[in-house]
Amino acid sequence: MSMLVYFSSGTQNTHRFITKTELPAQRISCSMKADLLQVTQPFVLVLATYAGGDGRGAVPKPVIRFLNDSTNRSLIRGVIASGNRNFGTTFGIAGDVISEKCQVPFLYRYELAGTEDDVMNVRTGLKKFWAA
Ligand SMILES: Cc1cc2nc3c(=O)[nH]c(=O)nc-3n(C[C@H](O)[C@H](O)[C@H](O)COP(=O)(O)O)c2cc1C
Repeated sequence: MSMLVYFSSGTQNTHRFITKTELPAQRISCSMKADLLQVTQPFVLVLATYAGGDGRGAVPKPVIRFLNDSTNRSLIRGVIASGNRNFGTTFGIAGDVISEKCQVPFLYRYELAGTEDDVMNVRTGLKKFWAA
């Protein structure tokens, strides 16, 4: 069974994308004071990039907090990142950072709330990924 964990902030783009996939998903709260989300099954992380052009600080703090929990970190299997092509070389760079730090595959990169093609690609790709 495919499980997604996602982070979405200001514009709720990632939230809209997740809703369109109709896949089971749990959300990481934007608040650093909220109870820590603790997962109990393998998941793929979907997150937006907030590097602001220079590539630093690309991974939002609530995502870092979530992954600092050793059980959560042990269950991540892959990452999908969103961003905006206007940012050039840092487009979706949060996915590169997570992939390297957690040693998991960077499965997909898309813009904003994703197109219908993105939704299909992620649905199909994840089905194959979890079946492998
Ligand atoms: C302050 C700020 C910095 C951003 N930095 C980047 C960036 O470095 N690379 C990128 O691809 N997108 C960047 N974005 C675009 C967001 O990742 C994109 O709009 C995303 O869809 C937001 O998702 P959310 O609404 O779910 O939080 C940035 C957006 C903001 C507001």
